[in-house]
Amino acid sequence: MPLILHRLERILLQTLAELGETNLEKLTSNSNLNIDQVRRAIEWLKSKGLIEIKSISREKISLGENGKKVLINGLPEKRLIKTLLQIGGRANFQELKNAFPIDGQEFNAALGYAKEKGWIRFSSIEGKTFIEIVSEPTITTEEVLLERLSKGDVFLDELSQEDLKTLKVLIKRPNYITQKSIKTIQLKLTQLGEQTVKSLKKKREIDTLTPELIISGKWREYVLRPIDVVSPTPPIYPGKKHPVQRFIDEVREIFISLGFEEIDGPLIQPCFWNFDALFTPQDHPAREMQDTFYLSKIKAKSIGSDKIVENVAKVHLNGGNTGSKGWGYQWNRELAEGLVLRTHTTAVTVKYLADFKPSEARVFSVGRVFRNEKTTFKHLAEFHQIEGIVVGKRVTLRDLMGLLSCFYSRLGLKKVKFWPSYFPYTEPSLQSVVYIDRLGKWVELCGMGIFRPEVTLPLGVKNPVLAWGGGLERLVMLRYGVDDVRKLYENNLSWLRGLPICL
Ligand code: PHE
Repeated sequence: MPLILHRLERILLQTLAELGETNLEKLTSNSNLNIDQVRRAIEWLKSKGLIEIKSISREKISLGENGKKVLINGLPEKRLIKTLLQIGGRANFQELKNAFPIDGQEFNAALGYAKEKGWIRFSSIEGKTFIEIVSEPTITTEEVLLERLSKGDVFLDELSQEDLKTLKVLIKRPNYITQKSIKTIQLKLTQLGEQTVKSLKKKREIDTLTPELIISGKWREYVLRPIDVVSPTPPIYPGKKHPVQRFIDEVREIFISLGFEEIDGPLIQPCFWNFDALFTPQDHPAREMQDTFYLSKIKAKSIGSDKIVENVAKVHLNGGNTGSKGWGYQWNRELAEGLVLRTHTTAVTVKYLADFKPSEARVFSVGRVFRNEKTTFKHLAEFHQIEGIVVGKRVTLRDLMGLLSCFYSRLGLKKVKFWPSYFPYTEPSLQSVVYIDRLGKWVELCGMGIFRPEVTLPLGVKNPVLAWGGGLERLVMLRYGVDDVRKLYENNLSWLRGLPICL
């Protein structure tokens, strides 16, 4: 694939080709781009292997405090000459010192420099030393360099041989100059970079093809810059549904597509629908307070039609006309009127059967259920179940296994099997399990079976009813490889953002 270059990259490549190895400052000023554009383009060029970047350390030279003063007041040796001129161009040591009030050491230094520059000489008359002017001072290289530094810092490697000599002198003088090591980068074209520059088209590049360009035919004078559609861009996180909700939608899609209808029911249920109608005896351990959330101080006003309540009471006592012996105890209506947060969605299913007494049906529901459990990585006190039934004259357990295999396979779970289980309301009862490669084990998915006649007959349902129900969160966890169920509801933004919509 030919290299696609951004406008900024082309400019930098060309500038680098003109400059040869250079630094960031020079590249920036010569390319007429701003520093951010240059930095950005440098990164791109580097990742494409077109330029090489070396980090080097450079000596930066700046004006020191005294250097700045000299620029205002003049070099001490010059000021000394000026004073000497004022007192007649010749003076002895003491006279000059009096006329030029400056710190002793500096006075000596000024004398030394003036002498060295050949502006004065010492003569001795009758044992006394005189200082006299030999020539008028001219502009010195020191002043020139100081002046240059006053306009901005200079790097050591930018100085000429002459300048370096001057710098050596200035560095000896106290605080005229400061020097600091700075890390900078050096850039140059790689071989690939050089080849690329050569192959760059001479025509100007444009990003947009306008109607004017087409009509006037001017487009022929330009090259249209190709766009690199695979180059990375900043990520965008648009709003999206929570993964659990997305999964619920997916479950709905599957059942609807299999010809099912969705049913719904209240979260609060009388014990009657949650337990009694499901042939769960009133002393069953699942009804205990430590397993189930009860509503205190409130009872259901009505639980079901008199007929159904009577039938259920009989079934619990002696099996009624179902052919069963029942549980053999006197059923207590008051207990059935207790209200609970539903512990399974089967309460919704069984109420549906009682209300519609279907001879044929395919319905499902997805909803929240509650269990009085400690929250752990495996369990939540509030979670979702997927539940459903198929009613029909000739439906069999085999149909149920086939249906669930089909459902799981649509969710991507292919290795499913069923093993015997127990529920008070189904006979036979099964448990579906799925093999998860990542975990290397079988994972339980849902309970299922054919509703016992003790459940269906009191409600007036004659045909067999295939029923199943199981947790939804576990399926979501398998989908996203989550090992702690609490993670689903932590609302950890980065996790939520990172989840793909499609797997
Ligand atoms: N209600 C059962 C549970 O909560 C599942 C189930 C539903 C089992 C229907 C059999 C038939 O685990």
